[in-house]
Amino acid sequence: MDFGIDANHGHVPVMRDRMRDLLRPAAEKFGDGAVIVDGTLGAGGHTEYFLNEFPLATFIGIDRDAAALDQATRRLEEFGDRFVPVQGRFDCLADELKSRAHPAFERVRETGLAGAFFDLGVSSMQLDQEERGFAYRVDAPLDMRMDPSGGMTAADVLNTYSHGDLARVLKTYGDERFAGKIASAVVSEREKEPFDRSGRLVDLLYSVIPAATRRTGGHPAKRTFQALRVEVNRELEALANVIPMVADALGPGGRAVFMSYQSHEDKLVKRTFAELTESKTPPGLPTELPDMAPKFRLLTRGAEQASEAEIELNRRAASVRVRAVEKLGEEPDGS
Ligand SMILES: C[S@@+](CC[C@H](N)C(=O)[O-])C[C@H]1O[C@@H](n2cnc3c(N)ncnc32)[C@H](O)[C@@H]1O
Repeated sequence: MDFGIDANHGHVPVMRDRMRDLLRPAAEKFGDGAVIVDGTLGAGGHTEYFLNEFPLATFIGIDRDAAALDQATRRLEEFGDRFVPVQGRFDCLADELKSRAHPAFERVRETGLAGAFFDLGVSSMQLDQEERGFAYRVDAPLDMRMDPSGGMTAADVLNTYSHGDLARVLKTYGDERFAGKIASAVVSEREKEPFDRSGRLVDLLYSVIPAATRRTGGHPAKRTFQALRVEVNRELEALANVIPMVADALGPGGRAVFMSYQSHEDKLVKRTFAELTESKTPPGLPTELPDMAPKFRLLTRGAEQASEAEIELNRRAASVRVRAVEKLGEEPDGS
């Protein structure tokens, strides 16, 4: 079996050709000085493809999951020093770029990043590791940490949050209509015994969510599990932090590409990109004021989606929304 496909748990990386096409002009413009960050390395499927497609570029691959980073690093060994692994939350980017003594990071300090790529959320590999508790179809510990070395677990959230905070998490990150009812049931159940495994939570959700809603709204645990995962991993906070870091770190002509799978992520990317690409020149002036002109341009019209054909082969592609920007300005060599 082809290693690339197998390492991605049976799937070709989502929209990989379109992702390559979005990054290619930046990779070509920066030439052998091109450094591109993959902030969500995962199994390394996208990065492996880009390393082959952009033979002059160097990639910095970040993942907060040490096991994923290790596995991807082994997969990408053949690329030698064109691949640099970094373990951490992707909003460590600014600190890493500021201080790491390494030729790729030094190059970024001189010319800026050529590209930044984010394929947000959990990987198929994490979903397949039952003991990590991401999947609701198997009974497992309520963990859900992408970096299991520290921090709060999903059980901690369920066992310690107030009713109000639980309801807010379920509503905001899971779009859960029954957030209040679920929070009430969790608070009363945990008084009997704290939550520690997913099976008990799934049973509770079956009992709280009306059967009629189940027919249209998918699996009753889907939204609650998503919300807990986003909360445990502070996913939105990391995303809100990293977009301005990327905007700052890109060199002129550099490109940033975000793949979101949840509406709250996509809304955040959309809103921040709108701010980056808008002119600050007061309306009514005949020309753009030099310091007020937009510093970025949008590369995507609305959010791009995967083709029906790809969705047919990979269900994960069904919810992807892609947005990309390019930093405007002079050439990277200053000419
Ligand atoms: C969808 S997978 C990426 C798959 C990858 N594009 C591939 O082709 O193999 C997302 C990965 O990003 C990591 N991740 C998600 N949010 C992160 C964050 N805030 N900081 C660092 N890593 C993160 C997860 O641990 C997971 O391994």
